[in-house]
Amino acid sequence: MTTGSPRTLLLIGGSSEIGGAIAEKLAAQAPLRAYLLGRDRSRLVQASKRLTKRGAQTDIDEVDAEDRASHQATIDRAFDSLGRVELVVVAVGVLGAQDGLDADTDEALKVMDVNFVGTGSLLLRALRKLREQGAGTLIVLSSVAAERPRASNAIYGAAKAGLDALAQGLADSCAGSGVRVLVVRPGFVNTRMTAGLDPAPFATTPEAVADATLKALNGNAHTVWVPNQLRLIFSALRHLPRPIFRRLPL
Ligand SMILES: NC(=O)c1ccc[n+]([C@@H]2O[C@H](COP(=O)([O-])OP(=O)(O)OC[C@H]3O[C@@H](n4cnc5c(N)ncnc54)[C@H](OP(=O)(O)O)[C@@H]3O)[C@@H](O)[C@H]2O)c1
Repeated sequence: MTTGSPRTLLLIGGSSEIGGAIAEKLAAQAPLRAYLLGRDRSRLVQASKRLTKRGAQTDIDEVDAEDRASHQATIDRAFDSLGRVELVVVAVGVLGAQDGLDADTDEALKVMDVNFVGTGSLLLRALRKLREQGAGTLIVLSSVAAERPRASNAIYGAAKAGLDALAQGLADSCAGSGVRVLVVRPGFVNTRMTAGLDPAPFATTPEAVADATLKALNGNAHTVWVPNQLRLIFSALRHLPRPIFRRLPL
């Protein structure tokens, strides 16, 4: 951070509740200039107002993860506007119905397209810009579902696994460049995305995800689990024999 200048944040998924909680906590720590990219202008305006109340300067712009042809120009505009970007948070995602093999095919393809290809496209372009700068951190909202998808959330889990693997692999290609990638794997978080679903064990809040993310930013972790107990639980689940895993009431 340059002393005296606001910190600069590009939030991709500008109306995300988790992304918003991260931005609001950053704004509470120090002067912040935030650029919110998202697909719904009215929700972006609401998110921008919440940040402005916390003293942040904000800009908004529209992007749809599925409109890949627009991504490069949109990311270029965001970087041009912010000047130097210290932090990019990638918080785009859709859950879709948790119907596994019985999922509606069009909806399943949309979940895969938005969560992996579309979000991956935005991530890739933003990360290249950070590498051009020679500095900066990119945070990507993955999920515990990326570690081992269950039958019912196979579509979402597979898409998140793809995004998570992309981020982890690209993180290694940035080693030594001054650019860092931090992968955040929350469990169930009470947000608009999970409204109406029964909370899973260890359900948490956007604020708790934001706290854990900002704490990890101050260290040198490459992956953070929220809550932290899920790291141990999922490393056990990952190695559980499949006939046992598929019978678990997850
Ligand atoms: N909530 C959970 O339990 C949980 C758990 C683990 C990981 N995550 C991940 O955390 C991230 C943030 O989720 P959240 O809980 O904060 O939910 P959220 O409030 O619903 O945020 C999702 C964001 O994705 C955006 N989005 C969806 N489809 C898009 C598209 N086609 N193009 C551009 N933006 C699009 C939404 O924009 P709109 O306002 O236009 O809909 C919204 O900004 C997601 O990646 C999610 O997968 C969430």
